[in-house]
Amino acid sequence: MEVPPSSSAAIRRKGCRSPYFFTLVAIILFITILYGEYFLLIFGGQSVVHRPYLSSTSGTKKNGEKLAFAVGEAERGCDVFSGRWVWDERGPLYKEAECPFLTSPQTCQEHGRADTDYQHWRWQPHACSLPSFNASLMLETLRDKRMMFVGDSLNLGQFQSMVCLVQKIIPSYDARSMTWNGSLVVFEAKDYNATIEFYWAPFLLESNSDNPVIHRVKGNDRAVRKDSINKHGDHWKGVDIMVFSTYIWWITGLKFKIQEGTFDDEGKDIAEVPTEEAYRMAMKSMLWWVSENMDPNKTRVFFTTMSPTHGNSTEWGAPEYGNCYNQTVMIDDANYWGSDCRKNVMNVIDEEFRKSRYPITLLNITQMSSYRKDAHASIYKKHWDPLTPAQLADPGSYADCAHWCLPGLQDTWNELLFAKLFYP
Ligand SMILES: *[C@@H]1O[C@H](CO)[C@@H](O)[C@H](O)[C@H]1NC(C)=O
Ligand SMILES: *[C@@H]1O[C@H](CO)[C@@H](O)[C@H](O)[C@H]1NC(C)=O
Ligand SMILES: *[C@@H]1O[C@H](CO)[C@@H](O)[C@H](O)[C@H]1NC(C)=O
Ligand SMILES: *[C@@H]1O[C@H](CO)[C@@H](O)[C@H](O)[C@H]1NC(C)=O
Ligand SMILES: *[C@@H]1O[C@H](CO)[C@@H](O)[C@H](O)[C@H]1NC(C)=O
Ligand SMILES: *[C@@H]1O[C@H](CO)[C@@H](O)[C@H](O)[C@H]1NC(C)=O
Ligand SMILES: *[C@@H]1O[C@H](CO)[C@@H](O)[C@H](O)[C@H]1NC(C)=O
Repeated sequence: MEVPPSSSAAIRRKGCRSPYFFTLVAIILFITILYGEYFLLIFGGQSVVHRPYLSSTSGTKKNGEKLAFAVGEAERGCDVFSGRWVWDERGPLYKEAECPFLTSPQTCQEHGRADTDYQHWRWQPHACSLPSFNASLMLETLRDKRMMFVGDSLNLGQFQSMVCLVQKIIPSYDARSMTWNGSLVVFEAKDYNATIEFYWAPFLLESNSDNPVIHRVKGNDRAVRKDSINKHGDHWKGVDIMVFSTYIWWITGLKFKIQEGTFDDEGKDIAEVPTEEAYRMAMKSMLWWVSENMDPNKTRVFFTTMSPTHGNSTEWGAPEYGNCYNQTVMIDDANYWGSDCRKNVMNVIDEEFRKSRYPITLLNITQMSSYRKDAHASIYKKHWDPLTPAQLADPGSYADCAHWCLPGLQDTWNELLFAKLFYP
């Protein structure tokens, strides 16, 4: 199947409190969205919650047993999500041209990006070191098993990164394949009878943006359906390693629409609630689905936190308005946190995950990714509509500051996933 065509990426920023400001933002967003490509991105930030009862530091579940797939333990007291980026002369773990499964907007070099420094940064946690990504261990672990990424186009990027990280050790072209079919993308490593899959569900719940190809809905018309996790969840059954993520699609303003009936109903019963509450409902539904359908003795579940966007350079102190366009160095303020990553939403994630009895591993990638204004797809992607002279004269106006180039930042998310999977 083809790569899904353009979708509206709602890279809306928050803070639209005054009507005037909202209008301004709406115009900017309209432009951004118009040219935002397919599959809206969703933020994924991953950081693990280091609380013993979440099993993230000890390699054990709450009752003291080992987690599935663990081969060792993390160094005590090391928060792998707290660290800094260090220059790595060796460069990325694979080359863009060597991974045939990448699609735009991940394929930045193919679309004209000439600088490569963004591929040379390695994440160094303050208190320990990350284990090296071992593709053979990953594939052997997935033998006769399924790994699935569920979420939006940002999670699609993390999925493609994982595929690229493992596929290089499969020598024969015939022994690996990728199939796009509706909401499901399946990478298969035939000799291992292993699959790595991606499932399009930008809200996890049933929504009016679920069409994998045409999911463009005007920002404020987006709605999810209450108690509808099984609609998509029925397609996730039997998965051994799950990686969920959902965020950016929720950010359309301060409120979000929740619907009681089906999307075909005429007399829809729609309630508008604060976005955090709608998001909380999705988290509760996801955790309920996991506890009903996954066996903590045999499976692992990860959740990637919100992926930051870099759409307004005044946030990082640039003198003039700009965005991720033409950014080749990262932000060096260790405390930098953009307003697009709502702290309230992070609190909801924290509160709901604390209550979960199934040991879910948080990949808290938000902070580490916030520094990386240099790592976005920017203008180096497929443009579905021809660019206008006005756009060509002002490239920043059509830069994609949500998705990330690969190889790049999202490989680090998967190195963190690797660390948490095998050395929890
Ligand atoms: C990678 O994992 C495999 C097990 O699948 C192991 O045999 C090999 O030694 C590991 N490689 C490194 C460099 O640790
Ligand atoms: C291949 O993997 C699937 C799970 O993804 C499993 O159900 C099936 O039994 C495996 N086939 C063989 C021949 O082991
Ligand atoms: C695509 O998925 C549908 C179910 O969603 C299935 O019936 C169909 O066989 C699949 N097509 C291919 C080519 O795999
Ligand atoms: C997991 O394994 C433990 C013992 O190894 C067992 O007591 C428990 O019931 C198992 N849990 C599930 C959900 O099967
Ligand atoms: C960028 O952010 C600054 C403050 O953080 C705000 O004043 C300004 O209006 C924003 N610009 C745009 C175009 O969103
Ligand atoms: C890109 O940024 C550099 C400074 O880092 C600046 O000199 C150059 O003019 C910028 N190019 C464009 C096209 O904005
Ligand atoms: C993720 O990390 C950030 C900063 O490191 C922290 O503020 C936030 O509370 C963490 N989120 C969770 C759910 O632990």
